[in-house]
Amino acid sequence: MDKRTVYMDYNATTPLRAEVKEAMKADLDVYANASSMHELGRLARARVEEARADVASIIGAGSDDVIFTSGGSESNNTVFATMFHRGRRGGRTGVVTTKIEHPCVLNAARWLEDEGFPVRFLDVDNTGRVDMDQLARALGPDTLLVSVMAANNEIGTIQDMEAIGALAKKAGAYFHTDATQAVGKIPVDVDRWQADYLTLSCHKLYGPKGVGGLFIRKGAPIEPLIRGGHQEHGHRAGTYNNPGILGFGLAARLAKSELDDYEAKTRALRNRLRDGLLSAIPKIRINGHPDFVLPNTLNVSFPGAEGEAILLYMDLAGIEVSTGSACASGSLDPSHVLLATGLGPELAHGSIRFSLGRDSTEDDVDYVLGHLPGIIARLRAMSTVDA
Ligand SMILES: Cc1ncc(COP(=O)(O)O)c(C=O)c1O
Repeated sequence: MDKRTVYMDYNATTPLRAEVKEAMKADLDVYANASSMHELGRLARARVEEARADVASIIGAGSDDVIFTSGGSESNNTVFATMFHRGRRGGRTGVVTTKIEHPCVLNAARWLEDEGFPVRFLDVDNTGRVDMDQLARALGPDTLLVSVMAANNEIGTIQDMEAIGALAKKAGAYFHTDATQAVGKIPVDVDRWQADYLTLSCHKLYGPKGVGGLFIRKGAPIEPLIRGGHQEHGHRAGTYNNPGILGFGLAARLAKSELDDYEAKTRALRNRLRDGLLSAIPKIRINGHPDFVLPNTLNVSFPGAEGEAILLYMDLAGIEVSTGSACASGSLDPSHVLLATGLGPELAHGSIRFSLGRDSTEDDVDYVLGHLPGIIARLRAMSTVDA
């Protein structure tokens, strides 16, 4: 097989789609400050508001309830900072989240813990789903916030958002979900999930990096992380990032209209990859939930082979994948997500995340299937650890 590049790291980020790139390029000429009163300013502002409507629409929200941020990390941190201020003013202080959140939620929760807030990190079962009994027991009259990610970035497991939202609301808590990996891949609906806050990020749906959104239900408290001007109703200061926001709007509109095709296409390719690996490589283990899983995500453990070595050999063959999440790679710690599902450190170390996308092809899958069995066999032959 001739060497080529096969990108299977779409959960880390996605390429900018051509339509979005063109629209952003054209928008660079609409340079006015979207807060300016003059005509060019009003034009820029109208584009921002159009984009807001498109972003709100993909999560079933009204335009008034979505603010723009710099990404998922900022949106998540804004919610936790809001809870800090809320808790400091008296009343409830309890926070319930999970062990498998993205580091930007985990570290924000740990910060609240350091500040004296009681924080509970829920366990997940061996498929990555939240233990609902444990959740019910963790909720009480002191619970201020429940924060559970809709879909996991490493293993793709999708939570029962309606049930979690219902429990959170019954306990009188605010309900936040980091839906960064869900938006554009599965249907998302803030009302069905009873979310008070929902985090989105643009670069996971074929839009630009450095743009995100936060849904804030009317009546839910919100404290700016960035103080300054009156932009975003005073909830997030800073001059509007017009081209980024416009790109987000278009990316969201296209993702919404193509959701069914996206799901069908990525699921078929992901299943082809999964079935091919299962039949070509002995003793592998598929991580995550067999059904409640993002259509594009496949996380696989290869006993007897080490994740970083697999990654390097695959990179040499032109295949771009991740061990765990892109944010956690670079550290040699085993994935906190896989450990939470009960995998031992050795298996967690020998795991690879394949995440496919709208540009993936059968040829890409077959290329991986053509290379990976040989790579694993070679690594297992060199390994001192049993497969
Ligand atoms: C689940 C999840 N939450 C949050 C983030 C952070 O989003 P951003 O890169 O827009 O800050 C990511 C990105 O990797 C993610 O996968």
